Amino acid sequence: MIKNFKNSDTLSKRAQEIIPGGAHTYSKGADQSPLLGPKFIERGKGSHVWDVDGNEYIEYAMGLRSVTLGHNFAPVVEAAYKQMLKGTNFGRPSMIELECAETFLGMFENAEMVKFGKNGSDATNGALKIARAYTGRDMVGICADHPFFSVDDWFISTTPMNSGIPRIMQDLTAKFHYNDLESIEKMFAEHPGEIACIILEPEKYDPPKDDFLNKAKEICHKNGALFILDEMITGFRWHNGGAQKVYNVDPDMSTFGKAMGNGFSISALAGKKEFMKLGGINHDKERVFLMSTTHGAESHVLAAAIATMKFYQENDVIGVLHEQGRKLKEGVNKASRELGIEDKVSIIGPDCCSVYTTRDNDGNPSQPFRTLFIQEQLKRGLLMPSSIVSYSHSDEDISETVEKLHDAMIIYKKALNEGIDKYLSGRPVAPVWRKYN
Ligand SMILES: Cc1ncc(COP(=O)(O)O)c(C=O)c1O
Repeated sequence: MIKNFKNSDTLSKRAQEIIPGGAHTYSKGADQSPLLGPKFIERGKGSHVWDVDGNEYIEYAMGLRSVTLGHNFAPVVEAAYKQMLKGTNFGRPSMIELECAETFLGMFENAEMVKFGKNGSDATNGALKIARAYTGRDMVGICADHPFFSVDDWFISTTPMNSGIPRIMQDLTAKFHYNDLESIEKMFAEHPGEIACIILEPEKYDPPKDDFLNKAKEICHKNGALFILDEMITGFRWHNGGAQKVYNVDPDMSTFGKAMGNGFSISALAGKKEFMKLGGINHDKERVFLMSTTHGAESHVLAAAIATMKFYQENDVIGVLHEQGRKLKEGVNKASRELGIEDKVSIIGPDCCSVYTTRDNDGNPSQPFRTLFIQEQLKRGLLMPSSIVSYSHSDEDISETVEKLHDAMIIYKKALNEGIDKYLSGRPVAPVWRKYN
């Protein structure tokens, strides 16, 4: 059992003094870990990570879904390193910018042009800017059932954490529901001629029903708006051609990031020339300032992305993600069924990108029970705030994980029967989306 988090705790205290939230990403913050748990990771290899106290874990967070091949994955790291030795940023584009664009467009056949950024938000912001410029409209429609689209005001203004954002921004974002065409029609009817585009993930936990994506696109076009798919997560998990290939839908623009560079910072806005060219220099319309930053095309990051995409093309990464995810899901759900708590703990969602539920005795999602479950996982050497597999998760990893989760669920069941306070050490983890601390 892992019990020593001394270095983690010292570093966490220090970090909270000098970094707001104790981390540079909210979901990695000091309030996101059980008290008895690692707060800082030192290194990772494949599917395993080591914390600053030397404890080893099988990991299922994988860089917030950005690491699909595995940590410190040699073909990617070596490609980036080789490129760094040639220099990383020049006063003119390097050839690798073109090579990376060609590799990308070879994978995602619907797209005619692509522009790279550093974060997913660069790409979704860019897509909305083009849609607004193209249509001359200010409002956007976002899917209310999808948890995150951007760090920018058009999205954060709609969350409980909207302090510091002018109230007027909220009025520019309308919402609709997934698999609910009527809600899209209603949104357009309530804001006639005002909505520039809709943005949604192609799939989250449930698949699109009855050709929902193509029908949603039709409604957009009927209303003079563009249809944008956010493939940040699905792009490098569902299929080598993204979820758009799986569901045979041809978006006006789509956005990618996360796994595209196996953890290196790269994102992409891709789409039809008719729209994308507004960000360029070969048209006679008003110019759009599209995704242009100092570090926008660091050459070693593009090398990492090319190596990642080539690895996908030469190996059945997608097949492995689906297969290992399926084994994990089946193993865990069988164990929770045997313990009679399948209505409390279960793995749900697509095999290649699942999440687990942690419900209380009343069947409601519970932060205290989530924290207890994570606490018991950590003790047993699992770092598992989510259930994300990578190409590096072996059969041994999966069966060891299922065994350990079985033992963690025995404690979970005891806490359901005897009260959680007896088993949970310290406060529960907090949701990121809250108005006050
Ligand atoms: C679906 C989706 N879109 C956009 C983003 C924003 O990406 P980033 O955090 O890289 O800016 C995220 C991030 O979690 C996401 O999950």
